[in-house]
Amino acid sequence: MDKVIEQIQQSRESHEAALFDLLRIPSVSSDPAHREDMERAAAWLLKRLQDIGIRSEIIPTPGHSIVYGEYMQAEGAPTILLYGHYDVQPVDPLNLWHTPPFEPEIRDGAVYARGSSDDKGQLLTHVLAAAKWLEAEGSLPVNLKIVIEGEEEVGSPNLQPFVEANKDKLSCDAVMVSDSAFFARGVPSLVYGLRGLAYVEVIVRGPNRDLHSGLYGGAVCNPADALARMIAGLHDKQRRVTVPGFYDKVRELTQVERDGFAALPHDDTDYAADLAVASLEGEDGFTTIERLTARPTLEVNGMWGGFIGEGAKTVLPAEAGAKISMRLVPDQDPDEAADAIEKHLQALAPAGVEVEVKRHHGGKPFLADPDSPFVEAGKTALERAFGKEAILIRGGGSIPVVETFNAVLGVPAVLMGLGLPDDNLHSPNEKMDMEQFHKGIEAAAHFMALAGALRG
Ligand code: BES
Ligand code: MN
Ligand code: MN
Repeated sequence: MDKVIEQIQQSRESHEAALFDLLRIPSVSSDPAHREDMERAAAWLLKRLQDIGIRSEIIPTPGHSIVYGEYMQAEGAPTILLYGHYDVQPVDPLNLWHTPPFEPEIRDGAVYARGSSDDKGQLLTHVLAAAKWLEAEGSLPVNLKIVIEGEEEVGSPNLQPFVEANKDKLSCDAVMVSDSAFFARGVPSLVYGLRGLAYVEVIVRGPNRDLHSGLYGGAVCNPADALARMIAGLHDKQRRVTVPGFYDKVRELTQVERDGFAALPHDDTDYAADLAVASLEGEDGFTTIERLTARPTLEVNGMWGGFIGEGAKTVLPAEAGAKISMRLVPDQDPDEAADAIEKHLQALAPAGVEVEVKRHHGGKPFLADPDSPFVEAGKTALERAFGKEAILIRGGGSIPVVETFNAVLGVPAVLMGLGLPDDNLHSPNEKMDMEQFHKGIEAAAHFMALAGALRG
């Protein structure tokens, strides 16, 4: 083990070179123009795994390929299913990037590039740790099944059925995912919960054409105005979601959990200052941390309609629309949430407009068993690598396949996030802190030893 850690510490340069190589491939899964880049990223990972001696293959899907690798020579040791995603979010608005998103550059101890933290930098820590184990010891202390997909950022539409159809192939003792973040710099954190997601698009249609707002305004229902009224009706004064049934299946927080959240190092004033807002807002009766990670929410992601060009044009738009997401917590269900909001939007629509609700991808919420020995191993691994006590937190984001793994394979998931909260995921200037990356490789190496020592 010491030899492995020592070699990891001596390989910073080659580890950074590997990361930069992968970051230079613009693997944007949502954009058909990047189809070839997606294949290049998958091929890069395949070669890397094969080069270090892990039997691997590319598994095609109707969408982007899955990279699958297997190391089963650690007799008697448990099997860890390692999950990550090589796809990244689009880069727009491009003009806000300080350096081009696919030309990685180190500034202030961090590498700036799309996908650096989400998820290429994080997933690579495990691959590089395995490489060093094999190099230093000739073997791994644990069995590995590696699943790296190319569709996480579009809701994992093909991985979820793949998991269901390959229950035996993927059988394991625990799932390891590094695709989240520390609570704060210097506060290693194990994530034991993720929120789910339901995403809809609402289109409000009124008159059969755009109208002169002087000649028609005041006599017909304006779709943009109707949409604004409908959206305003989705929350009450306490900032609770008004969609009927929305909270029915929400698991209430225990006092133990609430005490845990309250003990986290968080300050509302600093949080507001960082975002340059005068004050915070959210569901009455809950703290910011609870609102962010343990309570369900409903957000408008974008809205459009009518004239938004330069200057003023007097027009009553024929159509308006909005994209609305709901973050869900156990035991809410994405399909039920989408059904409920569709019904509610129809009910809120004023007479004189037609409402259509389209559905986008979603995902189920996830709550791990924080007492699992594998979760404990993840915590210890972080502590050994980062030299600080690790805490347990819940994450506000979503990784849809994690609950699928949990349900289909019936094993615990360890969410050992290695990013930092200010990594600018999905935003311009995404970065991965180099210390997080290098120490993350050590944490991944420690985890292999700790998990390997558990009963398979
Ligand atoms: N890695 C993130 C999710 C995440 C980030 C979880 C930080 C916890 C902490 C993931 O790639 C992501 O962005 N997921 C999407 C959902 C997906 C269906 C598009 C999300 O949360 O919006
Ligand atoms: Mn991710
Ligand atoms: Mn993401």
